[in-house]
Amino acid sequence: ATVEPDSKIAIVGSGLIGQFWAMIFAGGGFKVTIFDIYPEQISKALENIKLTLSKYEKQGCLRGSQSAAEQAALVTGCSDLEKCLQGASYVQECVPESVDLKKKVFEQMDPFITEEMVVATSSSCICVSQFVGNLAHKHRTLVAHPVNPPYFIPLVEIVPGPWTLPDVTAKCRALLEQVGQSPVTLSREVAGFALNRIQYSIINECWNMYQDGLLSAEDIDRVMTDGLGPRYAFLGPLETMHLNADGIVDYCNRYAQGAYNVCKTFKPPPVMYDVPTAEKMLKEIEKTIPVAKVPERRTWRDERLAALAALKRNLKEK
Ligand code: NAI
Repeated sequence: ATVEPDSKIAIVGSGLIGQFWAMIFAGGGFKVTIFDIYPEQISKALENIKLTLSKYEKQGCLRGSQSAAEQAALVTGCSDLEKCLQGASYVQECVPESVDLKKKVFEQMDPFITEEMVVATSSSCICVSQFVGNLAHKHRTLVAHPVNPPYFIPLVEIVPGPWTLPDVTAKCRALLEQVGQSPVTLSREVAGFALNRIQYSIINECWNMYQDGLLSAEDIDRVMTDGLGPRYAFLGPLETMHLNADGIVDYCNRYAQGAYNVCKTFKPPPVMYDVPTAEKMLKEIEKTIPVAKVPERRTWRDERLAALAALKRNLKEK
């Protein structure tokens, strides 16, 4: 189950995530065609892709073996959905997160989907079965959920719908691996997929500890950045258990009862939409990062993630 190296990739919706996907596939040497409902957005996206690839080249974090200019030349725009999909072996939909909009866009794409195509949605939390139920080609669709910024965080969650053919899931996974992403495959749809289920369980405990006055917001974040985070950049929680004893069974024999006793003290999920706690937290966080400085801080984050991605790549090569 592989996608031919000279085949075309279609990107539908050319905002933030659509542009990242275009750069990732171009880095893998694929021809990419981007579509958007607004033709001026297509031109803006092409220009932005060119500038970003050239910036990455200067910073030494460009993917693939071709130059930034060669990669940018692989990406073209198209203001006609049918033509954008024509001859594509893989489609990545990247329109805003709304069931109604995704439904509309998939209905528009359906007549142009072939039995050779894999059609993925970048959806962060909507399962594909929520909007492809009436389509003739629903068996060729699935979720491929990236993590922001996907150029530097390689994980992609592949979530097949109830009708997705196994070959479609396998082809999607093989293609994403080929272009340097790191896919995981869920066996079926579940709310939050895997990443957000894990992320929310962490946020819940952080929120509850803060509400209980156990630690400051700054110290809660430090538990991750200087504690769990560095470890988790290289090994997951299950391997951590395996290495913290003589194997995972030994870990359970030694520590499972203690862990269970701690977990029994956990509170139910906090009601975060009841905002007073968030307002209190904001006052603390704003001492170091005022809301006005958030865009600057995002750039800072992306630079660090790029450096970590380069470090991981170098360590793997040794
Ligand atoms: P965005 O708002 O930056 O881009 C969406 C693009 O879709 C815009 O260029 C818009 O003009 C276009 N569009 C709107 N209606 C359209 C239509 N009918 N046909 C074609 N194009 C249309 O949104 P973003 O952030 O790129 O998100 C796209 C998808 O990726 C969403 O499902 C989102 O949940 C998901 N995602 C977003 C992440 C993020 O951090 N922003 C991370 C992972 C997934």
